[in-house]
Amino acid sequence: MREVQIAFLGLGNVGSGVYKILQMRKKEFEEKEDLRINIKRILVRNINKKRAVEVDRNILTDNPDDILNDPEISIVAEFIGGEKPALEYLLKALNSGKTVVTANKEVIARHWEKLDEAAKASGAGLYYEASVCGGIPVIKAIQESLQANRIERIMGIINGTTNYILTKMSENNERFEEALRKAQELGYAEPDPTADIEGYDAAFKLSILSTLCFHKRVHLDNILREGITNITLEDISYGRELGYALKLLAIAKDNDGKVEARVHPTFIPLNHPLSSVRSSFNAVYLKGDCFGDMMFFGRGAGDLPTGSAVVSDILTACGRKEHRYMDFGKKTADAVYNDDWKTKYYVRLTVKDQPGVLAEIAGYFGKYQVSIASVIQKGYGDTTAPLIFVTHEASEKSIQKAIAEIRESKYVISVDNLIRVEE
Ligand SMILES: NC(=O)c1ccc[n+]([C@@H]2O[C@H](COP(=O)([O-])OP(=O)(O)OC[C@H]3O[C@@H](n4cnc5c(N)ncnc54)[C@H](OP(=O)(O)O)[C@@H]3O)[C@@H](O)[C@H]2O)c1
Repeated sequence: MREVQIAFLGLGNVGSGVYKILQMRKKEFEEKEDLRINIKRILVRNINKKRAVEVDRNILTDNPDDILNDPEISIVAEFIGGEKPALEYLLKALNSGKTVVTANKEVIARHWEKLDEAAKASGAGLYYEASVCGGIPVIKAIQESLQANRIERIMGIINGTTNYILTKMSENNERFEEALRKAQELGYAEPDPTADIEGYDAAFKLSILSTLCFHKRVHLDNILREGITNITLEDISYGRELGYALKLLAIAKDNDGKVEARVHPTFIPLNHPLSSVRSSFNAVYLKGDCFGDMMFFGRGAGDLPTGSAVVSDILTACGRKEHRYMDFGKKTADAVYNDDWKTKYYVRLTVKDQPGVLAEIAGYFGKYQVSIASVIQKGYGDTTAPLIFVTHEASEKSIQKAIAEIRESKYVISVDNLIRVEE
């Protein structure tokens, strides 16, 4: 029987899930795969901390060199997260020929070139299925099952925390702060929720997904990123009146060789397949020239779902004689971007409740070729009123110019929200 010595960097949520699965499936892997996976060392910050799994204390270490300098260890599985010190450890592991399996989206999104180069130079493997959408095997599907296609469009709900918050706001009329507090109580949101609610986490994942789908390196800096902190119950309710559900979507399109990539709150029709993805679930919708439309759905986080993706990568790495590389600059060129995409827009204003307002605002839209598809006008019964527009398809730059002028109008008290609409 083949015996592989592996090590973990980190034993928190994901590390514990991977540990549990490797214990649960030990016998099956030995019998069916003829493979014994031995966890030789586990790096943690605090050896004395109580763990979610029972681990032989002798394999725990707080010294990374116990792993990185051990020639017997051939696979390093990383679940520390963030850039520091994870990047340094992963580069050291790859430089010495150890295959890396990681759940760390940030380190892949930001430092993919360096990691891929180090892996290629030493002949080691680099696997990161768990870095995008936890338990959903979307990366393997793109790399191995959909190569016959040109993928032209990605739309995904790829952050479970924000989807949970928006579901609570939409279904239970909870305000943002209340829904966030519940997400934190349930462990869906971190004590510092910035990475989720400001869209950073989804942008990391979109950078990885779009790079793989389009065979072009899509850099983080070229992804428009807006979070959900400005979303109010008013927007959700007006959206519903107009036939839309609100989701934090990660969207990337490759049109005529130009890539647009953005993460932002988005209205989608209530009958769109993504609108029924509730709570902390994730989904990725792809459009390809041969397969047409395809949607992946499942758990994007959690110890066992994420552990499932990691263990699958470990098995794949064990089974490969040669690993594959992205080869940035050669096989994978840099993307050329389109920052003036076209979509529909929802605009919510608070205006003075006076005659002539609608005509003036329509004039600003008209000046920049933005045509209006529908309007909701309601009187508050006092001196101000909400005014909501949904436009036909317009260019991003045109709508921004129109909004800049509308903001200055003597009739406009505030521009309360601008939300993109995808059909
Ligand atoms: N949680 C999920 O469901 C999920 C899903 C998909 C991907 N991911 C990704 O998986 C990674 C890990 O997430 P997690 O939720 O498992 O994190 P976590 O629960 O906070 O665990 C982090 C682990 O890393 C160890 N660690 C942190 N800094 C360290 C350092 N400087 N040196 C040595 N060990 C260190 C910690 O040690 P101590 O235990 O001693 O503190 C802990 O065991 C992240 O990249 C995350 O984005 C998570």
